[in-house]
Amino acid sequence: MSNMFDVYQNFSDLYDELVNHEDYENNLYKFLNDNIQWENKVVGEFGIGTGRVSRNYIDKAKKLFAYDNSQHMLDKAKENLSKWTDKIEYSVLDNSKLNTIENTFDIIIEGWSFGHLVVQENENRDQTIQYLISETKKRAKEIIFIETLGTNVESPNPPGEKLSKFYQALVENGFKEHIIQTDYKFNNYEDAGKIMGAFFGDSMKNDIIQKQLNVIKEYTGIWICRN
Ligand SMILES: C[S@@+](CC[C@H](N)C(=O)[O-])C[C@H]1O[C@@H](n2cnc3c(N)ncnc32)[C@H](O)[C@@H]1O
Repeated sequence: MSNMFDVYQNFSDLYDELVNHEDYENNLYKFLNDNIQWENKVVGEFGIGTGRVSRNYIDKAKKLFAYDNSQHMLDKAKENLSKWTDKIEYSVLDNSKLNTIENTFDIIIEGWSFGHLVVQENENRDQTIQYLISETKKRAKEIIFIETLGTNVESPNPPGEKLSKFYQALVENGFKEHIIQTDYKFNNYEDAGKIMGAFFGDSMKNDIIQKQLNVIKEYTGIWICRN
C-alpha cells in the first residue's frame, strides 16, 4: 500500500503509528510552545488527521474546531484526544470549502494537509494557493501552516516544483518561514522500512532497508502570518 489517500480513508491506525514515530526529539512541540501563545485561544485546525499537531497545544487552548475531509481520520482523532472532548468540535470539511465555514478563530493551524490540495490542483494551482491564504487570513489573526521540506533527505528543500510555488507564495504574502527537524525513530530498520514504506511507498522502504536506517531525517517548514 502506498496511496496516502487510501491510508486517510481506511488505515488511520497505520497513519497514527507512523506519526507516533515522528519527531522523536519533540522539536515541533518546543517550537509551537515557544513561539505561539495558546492560552485561552479559539483554534481552527484543518486536516487534523489523528490529532498529532493538536496534542501539542490542546491543553492550553480554550476551544478547538477540528476539520478533516476523512471521517475515518476524525474518528481516530476523537479517540486520541478523548481527554479534551469537552473543548473540541469535529466536522468533516474539505480544504477546498474553507469559504463555507462561518466560524472565526484566534489561531488557524494546519499540518501537512493544505499541501495535498496544492499538489492535486494542476489546473488552478495559483488560484488554490491564493484561496488558502486569503480564506485563512479572513478567519484568524494568527495563521500557522506546517508542511514538509523533505523526508529521508540530507537538507531541507521543497519536494518538487508544486510545493516550492506554495512555500514561495506564503513568504510573498507575509508569512515568516521557520525550519525544524522532525526526524522519525524506530526500534530497528526493519520496522522503519515496513512502516515508512506503507505510507511513502516501496522506494522509500527499499532505501531504508538497504541503508539499515532506524532514524530517518524529516525537515519541516513552519510558516507563520500575524495579521
Ligand atoms: C499528512 S495527514 C496530516 C494529518 C495531521 N495534520 C498530522 O499532522 O498528522 C493529511 C490529512 O489531511 C487530510 N486531507 C487531505 N486532503 C484534504 C482535503 N482536500 N481537505 C481536507 N482534509 C484533507 C487527510 O485526511 C489527512 O488527515
